Amino acid sequence: MEIVIRPTPADVAVTAADIVADHVRRGPAVLGLATGSTPLATYQELIRRHRDEGLSFKDCVSFNLDEYVGLPKGHPESYREVIRKEFTSHVDIPDAKVEGPDGTAADIAAEATRYEEAIKAAGGVDVQLLGIGTDGHIGFNEPVSSLASRTRIKTLTTQTREDNARFFASIDEVPIHVLTQGLGTISEAGHLLLLATGEGKAEAIAATVEGPVAAINPASVLQFHPHVTVVIDEAAASQL
Ligand code: GLP
Repeated sequence: MEIVIRPTPADVAVTAADIVADHVRRGPAVLGLATGSTPLATYQELIRRHRDEGLSFKDCVSFNLDEYVGLPKGHPESYREVIRKEFTSHVDIPDAKVEGPDGTAADIAAEATRYEEAIKAAGGVDVQLLGIGTDGHIGFNEPVSSLASRTRIKTLTTQTREDNARFFASIDEVPIHVLTQGLGTISEAGHLLLLATGEGKAEAIAATVEGPVAAINPASVLQFHPHVTVVIDEAAASQL
């Protein structure tokens, strides 16, 4: 595991964009995309490089990590919409190549299987962007998720619903269920790129990097992976 500590969130975004751009240039890359506020500055930096430096995503395919279950298609907070709005609609990746689990599917278990197969058919994810929840979740794999888990439905903890309530009018509107790639699914990506900024993530980062590998801290599964880069600012590194 390589730990890169940068002074500020803006520096984290530049380092993360360097890593993603490297994969894209080597192309055709399969990108694993994450939501949450942490990767937004990285997406901005990649959009800038597309616009100013001609970095092209036209041969890329992307897979979202997770999705809320039950938000109607096109809901502004559905992760499909967020990824389009914040990143993919601003670059030249074809819209049909931007994939995500479908939280509106009538048969969620069948959708989970379909999604796993779609990732496999694309040849697997080359570089997977990850944020981290304050409770150590990645994707929506809450504490005590199996380290070998596959894409499936999960129930959010109250803490995560509270953390994400800022994107909704009230906590009551935050869905209770989600579809998420499992820890086993995520672990199959070739390169895992975990980003964290701010003191609020310091405890989760310390547990991820220095704690025991345990289902109670889902992100600790990264310790088993042969190619992980953790890019954090000084505040998120403050408990290392
Ligand atoms: C959500 C997402 C995670 C993300 C987390 C942290 O729960 N499912 O993928 O890592 O939020 O979000 P933020 O970066 O806004 O702190």
